[in-house]
Amino acid sequence: MASSRHVAIYPGSFDPITNGHLDLIERGARLVDRLIIAILRNDSKRPLFTVEERMEMLSEVVGRFPNVEVDCFNGLLVDYAARKEATVIIRGIRAISDYEFELQMALMNRRLAPGIETIFLMAAEAYSYVSSRLVKEVFGLGADISGLVPPSVEARLRKRKDI
Ligand code: PNS
Repeated sequence: MASSRHVAIYPGSFDPITNGHLDLIERGARLVDRLIIAILRNDSKRPLFTVEERMEMLSEVVGRFPNVEVDCFNGLLVDYAARKEATVIIRGIRAISDYEFELQMALMNRRLAPGIETIFLMAAEAYSYVSSRLVKEVFGLGADISGLVPPSVEARLRKRKDI
């Protein structure tokens, strides 16, 4: 029997998760029955945190959402989505500068898997300038990042001597 449950994937690097991501997770989780946050295993981006560390950090902060789970994947996102029987990909858009790349990915993914729809959520204005990359950069240079990432993530960043 076909399931009418809506499963969505929220893919990304999450190196590390920011409050902007968290806001999107909270809003995305209200739209679907099951939301899977999927971390891409891609060492070519030279991540600060290992996939396992990022999964731990995500799991710590999404535990309060009963329909959200954390996973990782290799290869094509649409193949992973199909394995999970997901019909929706959720992505966030902060500014026009995000739009071009996101449009390319959404159109490519649609070509590869026409049955999977990409849904864009606008980032909350409070976090519209926040990115994992900038958080790491300013933190490494001594700035205060409280309010930009969950406290547990800030604590992990503090433990790192190599930023
Ligand atoms: O957080 P990011 O780094 O912007 O996320 C990018 C991500 C993981 C969504 C994208 O790189 C991706 O989906 N990679 C998986 C490989 C793939 O399917 N590539 C084709 C995308 S059109």
